[in-house]
Amino acid sequence: MLGLDTNNFPAALFTGVGATLVASFVLGAVIWLVFNAGSRFFKNNLPSNSAQAEFEKTFRAATSAPAKPLSPNAEPVLISAIGFILFLGIGGLFLTQIPGPRQMPKEEPKPAVAALPTSGNLTEIVAALPAGDASKGQALYVAKGCVGCHSLEMDKRVVGPSFYGVWTRAATRKPGLAAKEYVYESIVKPNDYVVESYQSGLMPQNYSVQLSPQEMANMLMWLEKEHAQ
Ligand code: HEC
Repeated sequence: MLGLDTNNFPAALFTGVGATLVASFVLGAVIWLVFNAGSRFFKNNLPSNSAQAEFEKTFRAATSAPAKPLSPNAEPVLISAIGFILFLGIGGLFLTQIPGPRQMPKEEPKPAVAALPTSGNLTEIVAALPAGDASKGQALYVAKGCVGCHSLEMDKRVVGPSFYGVWTRAATRKPGLAAKEYVYESIVKPNDYVVESYQSGLMPQNYSVQLSPQEMANMLMWLEKEHAQ
């Protein structure tokens, strides 16, 4: 609401009242300008001065109270005051929606970031991942920075090996590890197996906390479906 910090009620109230004050003065000034222009227009277009004087004379005679013209400053002040009250009313409507200290919602404790496991039985770890969606892999490949080091073209070496055919190679990398297990491990623990002729330590070491289990599952599914040439 109004970009106010609703957790800090006094500050919110203060900002709200301050904003209301400023807004009401601005509105008052605008209304005054409009009225002023309007009354000048009518003064110029009303019956001649003598007719007006005649009318005022009759009018004063008819009313016993002596004519008490408003001071020249009264008009803007009056209109500003009306604008002010209007805005206090409207501002009040907003302010009542800011929760007081008692109704303040309790802050939910943030769930701890669940890192992907980097040690343990790889077969069990990959089996525990959620179902992957290959169609989300391409976006992750860009968003998580793989694109900077891994090309998708055959044998095109950037910093790391191309993803072209990576799934097929993955099955042959480490004896006893299935493609999925090897690729999972290469992402969360890149230094465990360093591809021949490439340098260790280049691939970021923190993908176990950069990728959620769902993102890892999507990435694996994408590599399996589209990079097993
Ligand atoms: C800063 C560069 C860099 C980034 C970013 C990077 N990698 Fe790598 N990656 C490498 C290098 C270098 C190697 C080869 C050395 C090694 O095995 O660690 C590699 C190896 C791999 C391998 C093993 C390939 C094979 O043929 O055995 C896989 C799989 C892999 N990366 C996946 C990823 C994924 C997925 C991402 C993004 C989430 C990523 N990498 C981001 C540099 C990078």
